[in-house]
Amino acid sequence: MTRHFLRDDDLTPAEQAEILDLAAELKRDRFASKPLAGPQTVAVIFDKSSTRTRVSFAVGIADLGGSPLIISTANSQLSGKETASDTARVLERQVAAIVWRTYAQTGLEEMALNTTVPVVNALSDEFHPCQLLADLLTIREHRGELAGLTVAFLGDGASNMAQSYLLACATAGMHVRVGSPAAYSPDPAVVADARTIAATTGGSATVLTDPAEAVAGADIVVTDTWVSMGKEDEKAARVKVFGGYQVDADLMAGAKPDALFLHCLPADRGYEVSAGVIDGPQSVIWDEAENRLHAQKALLVWLLRQQTVAA
Ligand code: CP
Ligand code: NVA
Repeated sequence: MTRHFLRDDDLTPAEQAEILDLAAELKRDRFASKPLAGPQTVAVIFDKSSTRTRVSFAVGIADLGGSPLIISTANSQLSGKETASDTARVLERQVAAIVWRTYAQTGLEEMALNTTVPVVNALSDEFHPCQLLADLLTIREHRGELAGLTVAFLGDGASNMAQSYLLACATAGMHVRVGSPAAYSPDPAVVADARTIAATTGGSATVLTDPAEAVAGADIVVTDTWVSMGKEDEKAARVKVFGGYQVDADLMAGAKPDALFLHCLPADRGYEVSAGVIDGPQSVIWDEAENRLHAQKALLVWLLRQQTVAA
């Protein structure tokens, strides 16, 4: 069975830990693994803008001995003339894996259902699981262990980042709190899934509306843009509702004194985070951005290994 990575809970706790270990190994010896030597090609498709995801997949695939094929949806038939399922069937004859940044999660599911090569979610409206592998790697580097740590995500609880935080941190045995306005709470089905996983890992998942309560005593504080890609028309309304959720020095003071600050970037300083926090000593955003490379390489190596095992 081909393994895909469409949401954070597509990996078991043991598999997530194995990929993070592999990422740390590849970070120490960047060119140690060449499963794509040949080179084999990996298609990386973008319906939305990207800097980090585009660069880290392109560089990572090349590091693994492969050839990245970056496709902008606007210049492909996927922009309207062809379905995800037909695209999947065309691509599987020529590439080793498909990486796709898109809107609805259902598109990724359709792609995965119709192909024999691994499909990776490079961000959808619902989840950003590759970012979470990088974030967990970063937290592990700075704190040693993941299980038992408390993470507070502030801002848009219905966003891809908040929802991936719920699933990935529950998988890692962490205590994850989302602090968001009631109208922007995470999907209850995602919260329920996170709680089911947390019950097996010793973690927990909590949704709160009070930002101070969400960060109280946290080991890690995280935020993301209030205006995700595709929501630009709602910017004025969102800025009003999210005003009290800005991660600034006052809010950080409620977390542990040595709490880490993470942000997937790009950031709007003065909105979801103050410049003092994101550019301050608790911020680990540049390690986090670099770790996209190592985490995704490990993910690709692992997914391709499952293909070999299955063959
Ligand atoms: N964090 C992240 O996914 O960045 P990009 O949108 O630049 O890829
Ligand atoms: N939530 C953001 C993440 C960007 C990497 C967005 O979807 O635009």
